[in-house]
Amino acid sequence: MAKIGIFYGSTSGITEEIAMKVREKLGESLCDIYSMEEDFDEYSQFLEYEYLLFGCSTWGAGDVQNDWRDPVFEMELDKPDFSGKTIALFGAGDQVDHGTEFVSALGKLHKLFHGLGATLVGEFPNNGYSFEHSSALLNDKFVGLPIDEVNQSEKTEERITQWVESLRPIFVGSS
Ligand SMILES: Cc1cc2nc3c(=O)[nH]c(=O)nc-3n(C[C@H](O)[C@H](O)[C@H](O)COP(=O)(O)O)c2cc1C
Repeated sequence: MAKIGIFYGSTSGITEEIAMKVREKLGESLCDIYSMEEDFDEYSQFLEYEYLLFGCSTWGAGDVQNDWRDPVFEMELDKPDFSGKTIALFGAGDQVDHGTEFVSALGKLHKLFHGLGATLVGEFPNNGYSFEHSSALLNDKFVGLPIDEVNQSEKTEERITQWVESLRPIFVGSS
């Protein structure tokens, strides 16, 4: 088993692509990768890792991507202990057509895992984005990496690189 677990939910494949790039940049041998649709059975799989990267796009009006719904519901009920776990969040959204809830799913996951005792890392500056509201903002920064492939695909690569480099000392440096 690798040191880092990457779990992603992605309806049209955008967050999946981000997950693959993050894994490639961090180092493939360090990361096990799971599709929430195909490889995920129960949240106890998360607990096998000390370091976790969770990918989730935003759908509905600020909701988590479909494959995350049941596990989020179950964790809200069961309240598993994530203390000692280090978690970073990423996910796709659309700041133009869905600018009132831009990447808000990241905010929901942040609140959930923070409440379960995890250490959340991987905040990202909000400059360069333009939107009305996001539940993923905390102290004026995003709680994870937001990617907007619909409107700003030219910025994706650079944003992923910047984010992964900010995580490297925490996720890789301590190995
Ligand atoms: C019906 C619908 C609802 C959406 N709702 C939101 C939303 O609330 N917030 C947001 O940032 N993006 C929203 N989006 C945009 C998607 O998150 C975006 O297309 C993203 O790239 C999908 O990523 P995925 O392929 O990884 O699921 C919505 C898209 C659709 C079609």
